[in-house]
Amino acid sequence: MEENSKKNPIILGIESSCDETAAAIVCGRKILSDEIASSADIQALYGGVVPEIASRAHTDAIAAVVERAVKNAGITYQDIDAVAVTYGAGLLGALLVGVSFAKAFAYALHKPLIAVNHIRGHLAAAYLDEPTLHPPFITLLASGGHTAILHTKTETEFELLGGTLDDAVGEAFDKVARVLGLPYPGGPHIERAAKEGKNVIPMPKMLKGNGGYNFSYSGLKTAVINYCHTCTQRGEEYSKADVAASFQSAAIDVLVEKTVFAAKGRGVYAVTAGGGVAANGYLREQLARACEKNGLRLVLPEKRYCTDNAAMIAAEGVTQYKQGNFADLRLTAKASLSLSMTLKTEQNGK
Ligand code: KG4
Ligand code: ZN
Repeated sequence: MEENSKKNPIILGIESSCDETAAAIVCGRKILSDEIASSADIQALYGGVVPEIASRAHTDAIAAVVERAVKNAGITYQDIDAVAVTYGAGLLGALLVGVSFAKAFAYALHKPLIAVNHIRGHLAAAYLDEPTLHPPFITLLASGGHTAILHTKTETEFELLGGTLDDAVGEAFDKVARVLGLPYPGGPHIERAAKEGKNVIPMPKMLKGNGGYNFSYSGLKTAVINYCHTCTQRGEEYSKADVAASFQSAAIDVLVEKTVFAAKGRGVYAVTAGGGVAANGYLREQLARACEKNGLRLVLPEKRYCTDNAAMIAAEGVTQYKQGNFADLRLTAKASLSLSMTLKTEQNGK
């Protein structure tokens, strides 16, 4: 690999791993444009993401979304230095739409192609519009599929300190939402319900003081389900808002505590977070409070850059561009990529 010296490359990012068709233009760390078309409203009717509906929606939307991203950035196609696309993990048919489009685009315009791992995109979101953020720092990854605490050593080197032993935190939010009769995706609905409730229902301890940097969410999820079912069987009404508030504190407090503990343990100056659950207002407040108390700088991506978007894919594209880490036209989509593979540097779709 040959390192690329251009300091602020202009990268087109394309993301289509789930139900958002997104394209963005990033110059270095500056976001020039950011476009999203979502099929979430249609998917919500089915209580989850239907892969075939997602693929068709991406196919319909992608050309217009990319065109809008380029136009709104005030650049021409020729100004783009490389095309970065999510190649995994995600829904295979959905990913293939983005990957095929990016390959055709790169080939037609003679631009380099960069394969981006979706989770690496979530981690790179912290750099967006933050020119002074430099590793080493601690990153909390909290998405629908992953929950982990990482020691980010450089822009391409990560040490996994700990993670979930079973469900991801986002998955727990979605399952608890379903039990409470709230729509998919559950996270934002739980957050809204929790604002009206109180943290008064006892919840399991969540490997709080022990378990190192690991967490477990399946016990918490089962505890919520049992509480709701027991109340229903007894003919007693329960407060959905109190269940939401109690679950949210139990699910988030442990993440905040262990993230700050990791930052102190590694002696780093800053903490970042990424993934859909990092958009949660309670998590953001608690993390801010804990970081302030411990003299740590906290860098949180704006909420819209925590959930799926293409600016984060372009941000990781910038890192890979500087490394000279390009993919070729044999690139194909990968439905699953393990976290350990995700954290390895030389990924690029191979
Ligand atoms: O990172 P993401 O957009 O997709 C991947 O998994 O890669 O994360 C989606 C997850 C879902 O489980 C969703 O319920 C959760 O993030 N989420 C939230 C919030 N917004 C999205 N969880 C809690 N509070 C939120 N405000
Ligand atoms: Zn995601």
